[in-house]
Amino acid sequence: MSISQLSLTDFRNLQSITLDFHPTINLISGDNGSGKTSLLEAIFILCQARSFRTHHLKRTIQHDKNGFLLFGRFNDYKAGLSKTADKFDIRVNGEAIKRRSILVNKTPINIVNTDSLDLITGSPQQRRQYLDWCMFHVEQSYNQHWQKYQHALKQRNKLLKSRKDLKLLEYWDDYLINPSIVLQAYRENYCGEIEQQVKSELSELLQDVNIGLKYLQGWHSSMSLKESLNKNRERDIRSGFTNTGIHRDNIQILADGYPAADVLSRGQLKRLSLALLIAALKILKQKSGRQLILLVDDLRAEMDGLAQERVYESLLAIGLQLFITNIEPHVPEAIKGKDFKMFHVEHGMIKTRKFS
Ligand SMILES: Nc1ncnc2c1ncn2[C@@H]1O[C@H](COP(=O)(O)OP(=O)(O)O)[C@@H](O)[C@H]1O
Ligand SMILES: [Mg+2]
Repeated sequence: MSISQLSLTDFRNLQSITLDFHPTINLISGDNGSGKTSLLEAIFILCQARSFRTHHLKRTIQHDKNGFLLFGRFNDYKAGLSKTADKFDIRVNGEAIKRRSILVNKTPINIVNTDSLDLITGSPQQRRQYLDWCMFHVEQSYNQHWQKYQHALKQRNKLLKSRKDLKLLEYWDDYLINPSIVLQAYRENYCGEIEQQVKSELSELLQDVNIGLKYLQGWHSSMSLKESLNKNRERDIRSGFTNTGIHRDNIQILADGYPAADVLSRGQLKRLSLALLIAALKILKQKSGRQLILLVDDLRAEMDGLAQERVYESLLAIGLQLFITNIEPHVPEAIKGKDFKMFHVEHGMIKTRKFS
């Protein structure tokens, strides 16, 4: 879905306001510290019920206020969130929901910012989350398998920690193995598709570097998961948790056959991280046909002009709802001649800007 309207009250430094957005391109300008990232954060929270900037949502409540209110109109639903120091209320179409995933499922949203590089240089968990995000929104059964897997892993770890009823381990092993096989097959498959997309469609962004993605399973490649769990049982009991499994899977990102994080320049890494994200967005859009939101925070500070234009061209071709921040009211070449909306933020005050 795309968001057509946002109302915010007592959120970060922003003055309470209702904004109508453009269905495809929204450009946001303003000096450093004016509140641009905060506006993107409000949109993100309305889709995800969490922030990309802090684990403590209460930090986003305006200083000296009791709580924030966010309200969003999407194509076919309305979302309302209210957060005080000790309460977080999520409503969809006016009804309180208990499970965050009901909201999260509705509108896929992602962000490009200075942290995007972590996809390559960060921990394996970040790469798994990247793949999982894409599959979560495309494959209806993915979430069910994921829940089963999480449940089995939790129970198994509980047993290992307590060291009681260890004979039940075998039982939980089977529960762990079944969803693992399905989830891993999905992940491997998507990994291959992303690699294909990057190679075929995004090679210009990467210039002459030959990119490869290699899926590495979280246990020895010569063994089945069952064999690995059996072999590591003593070790698992000693450490009190499950040492091998798909929670240890990794995606190795290679540039000309070498680990990309070790050999590429920072500029190349930035372009590669964007290419990977664009590939995932494309696959998500193609497979699900869903409307997606992408927030692009200060790309100009991150990338040279030509590379930026390539990024915008690719993004526009996918057909997303874009929110793009920049310090100056800059209109990328790729966007000129298209219909868009522009906003300007000054000391927390957001104004719709006329552009000619
Ligand atoms: N909870 C809050 N209440 C009030 N102001 C805040 C809060 N959190 C951050 N700020 C302030 O909001 C301002 C805007 O931040 P930000 O959105 O990151 O600006 P920009 O992205 O335009 O550089 C910062 O000056 C920051 O100090
Ligand atoms: Mg910012």
